[in-house]
Amino acid sequence: MKEQLFLIITFLVAAIKAVTVYDNTNFDNNLIPESIKECALYYSNNITNKYNKNADYYKIIPELLPGYESIQNDEIYIKPKDMYSGKISIDEEKQHSLFFWKFLQSERSEYSKISKKDSLILFINGGPGCSSMDGLLLENGPFRVNSNSKLIANNGSWHMHSDIVYLDQPLGTGFSTKLNSKETNLEFYDSDLDAETSSNLIKFLIEYYKVFPEDINKKLIIAGESYAGQYILHFTNNIWKFNNIVGKTVIKLDTVMMGNAWVDPIEQSSAYLPFFQEQGLFDSNNRLFKHLLNQQEECQKTINSIDINSMTSFDVGTCESIMYSFISSLFSSKDSKCLNVYDYRIEESAPSCGANWPHELPFVGSFFKHEGVEEALHIIDLDDDFDNNDKTISWNECSNKVYANLKNEISAVPAIRFLPQLLEQGLNLYLFNGDKDIICNRLGVENYVKKLSWNGEQFSKNAKWHSWIHENTQVGQFLKDRNVTLINIFNGSHMVPYDKPMETRALFHIIDLMESNKNIKQEFLADADYEIKTFNGNLKRESIVFYDSDGNETEVFREIESQSSDDNKKGEDSDENQSSDREKKVNKQDHSLIPNWILIIVFFVLAVYLIKYILDTLFSNKSALMDSSMTRLNGNDIRKDERLDEDLEACLGTTEFDIELEDSNVDVNNKSHVHIDLNND
Ligand SMILES: *[C@@H]1O[C@H](CO)[C@@H](O)[C@H](O)[C@H]1NC(C)=O
Ligand SMILES: *[C@@H]1O[C@H](CO)[C@@H](O)[C@H](O)[C@H]1NC(C)=O
Ligand SMILES: *[C@@H]1O[C@H](CO)[C@@H](O)[C@H](O)[C@H]1NC(C)=O
Ligand SMILES: *[C@@H]1O[C@H](CO)[C@@H](O)[C@H](O)[C@H]1NC(C)=O
Ligand SMILES: *[C@@H]1O[C@H](CO)[C@@H](O)[C@H](O)[C@H]1NC(C)=O
Ligand SMILES: *[C@@H]1O[C@H](CO)[C@@H](O)[C@H](O)[C@H]1NC(C)=O
Repeated sequence: MKEQLFLIITFLVAAIKAVTVYDNTNFDNNLIPESIKECALYYSNNITNKYNKNADYYKIIPELLPGYESIQNDEIYIKPKDMYSGKISIDEEKQHSLFFWKFLQSERSEYSKISKKDSLILFINGGPGCSSMDGLLLENGPFRVNSNSKLIANNGSWHMHSDIVYLDQPLGTGFSTKLNSKETNLEFYDSDLDAETSSNLIKFLIEYYKVFPEDINKKLIIAGESYAGQYILHFTNNIWKFNNIVGKTVIKLDTVMMGNAWVDPIEQSSAYLPFFQEQGLFDSNNRLFKHLLNQQEECQKTINSIDINSMTSFDVGTCESIMYSFISSLFSSKDSKCLNVYDYRIEESAPSCGANWPHELPFVGSFFKHEGVEEALHIIDLDDDFDNNDKTISWNECSNKVYANLKNEISAVPAIRFLPQLLEQGLNLYLFNGDKDIICNRLGVENYVKKLSWNGEQFSKNAKWHSWIHENTQVGQFLKDRNVTLINIFNGSHMVPYDKPMETRALFHIIDLMESNKNIKQEFLADADYEIKTFNGNLKRESIVFYDSDGNETEVFREIESQSSDDNKKGEDSDENQSSDREKKVNKQDHSLIPNWILIIVFFVLAVYLIKYILDTLFSNKSALMDSSMTRLNGNDIRKDERLDEDLEACLGTTEFDIELEDSNVDVNNKSHVHIDLNND
């Protein structure tokens, strides 16, 4: 207990020195990349790309996909009928193209009965360089792949909510391959998120809308995970610049959803050790206890010396190395074991530490190798429109070349720097986090969100956590201030839709309940007291429950927009008579979780320890933390930095980790020495 409090205090002290608030004042976002201006010209001149076909060409015959025919519909899942896939040319001259796979919203979904078909989701995985076939076949797509590499149903599919497109980008990712070209790698691969990756995405959308003109007026939602946090915010920034130059809202984007996303290198990489400690994974019995504390101190020093306003790199190496030291520190150095960086409940054998997770990953590769699948999905370029070599096509989850070219110091500023400006321009930001992820853990996300300031106000310090109850069980909780909503999903990994498919599908129910429920007269003030209830099916039961200061509750049910003719379902539907605007009053009920007196005691104890710590630091010539053996560490850090350059990165989809067990750095005596210092109090 003592040790824990001591640690909490050191982190508090350290945190004070880091960034205090992110606002819109210190980033000049006026620059418009030339390539974005070119996109505007390209659009305005209505230039035709001779390689792009009409929608019929891209239509998939579902029966050609192994497993499809055996998939059964049930109450909550209807298998997709209308699918399109193939390559859309983004550069006629260079024959560059991006691969997509699109699903239409299920006509018969519960959802289509209550909401208009008016949105289109664009889903992208991270990396940089990881294929969005990950998202499609391992996370929130209509299908998963079984061990016979055949398609099976995914109940959590987002096509039950709206049309969805999975896109392999940037160039060189997944099936957006470069195989035959005379271009050098430097010419082909993107090295700048704004100038190249964003303009390629915009060109894709311009061409996509020509193929699917019915989507032009749909609201576009860009969703993704991990490094896609960087992608998505840069795309939003550039899409809005593009719309501005063209003079109309060509791309109707105002909502983004980002899962365990990398946005703020400073807050996110300094959150590793505090996160481990908070989750009960790190204490003074840790084999590398003192070493890790020293690393945290180094990390803080580095961060304190960084000027966020001139920061361009998207990671803080000294801080990230803590994560890599930590994941092996819980095991004996002989065992060569580590925690999975994407889900700390899973033990792995080093050096993969998550690189081969999830275990279905190889099935996805084999699915694409089935005879006929590449033809069915129009991956093979029968017309020779693109600069590909069909003979050598094979699916790789992540491309090292894409990664290596995009991960450079000048590629792009961290998205946190202009996020406040996007919020001021009307961005609706939904962040969802699996709470068992390490690499982009929820604590780091919470930390940067709480420091966001836009329209003159910081994210409310009084914002309350709201319960999210799905199918009568609390599955998560969320914070919301104005148009920023942060949702933590309990027991979810880095790839939350993989573990928690039904919950991530229900994220859309939350969004709809809050954004478009005309029954709700209350404002969603940050410090208001309310919780949300969602269900897999029978959406009429979904509601928001508000609590007033007396503890009285008011339950407001979902508004049903259109009653379809086949609404005479049997079962639960009929025995509940809920006109949509019914309000239910319930008696006073105490729902506060922690009594105030406990908070007061905790605060008091913390204050005493804080004062003691400061005094100790000032007057003791041998404080436990300050006496870190810097010389030994420094010698090691040089090697580490080299390794970081090669292997480590924030939130990468998949990589092989080079774990060092660090035993040479920590001697057992030092560890017990720390014990003595702490217990001397
Ligand atoms: C763009 O060109 C296509 C065919 O070349 C034409 O059908 C379409 O109407 C044009 N669009 C605009 C906005 O001019
Ligand atoms: C999908 O949901 C149905 C109905 O609730 C259930 O029978 C089935 O087992 C679920 N499938 C999976 C893969 O979870
Ligand atoms: C928040 O989002 C709503 C819905 O898109 C929008 O109407 C509103 O203007 C946004 N608010 C702010 C402060 O941007
Ligand atoms: C999370 O996992 C724990 C441990 O397995 C379990 O007790 C708990 O019910 C789970 N909670 C949710 C919401 O899944
Ligand atoms: C159900 O609701 C309707 C309209 O709100 C009302 O007229 C009817 O009496 C209700 N039926 C029952 C059984 O409560
Ligand atoms: C709250 O509930 C109590 C007990 O039912 C009732 O006396 C009181 O008027 C209610 N307050 C409000 C604001 O509805």
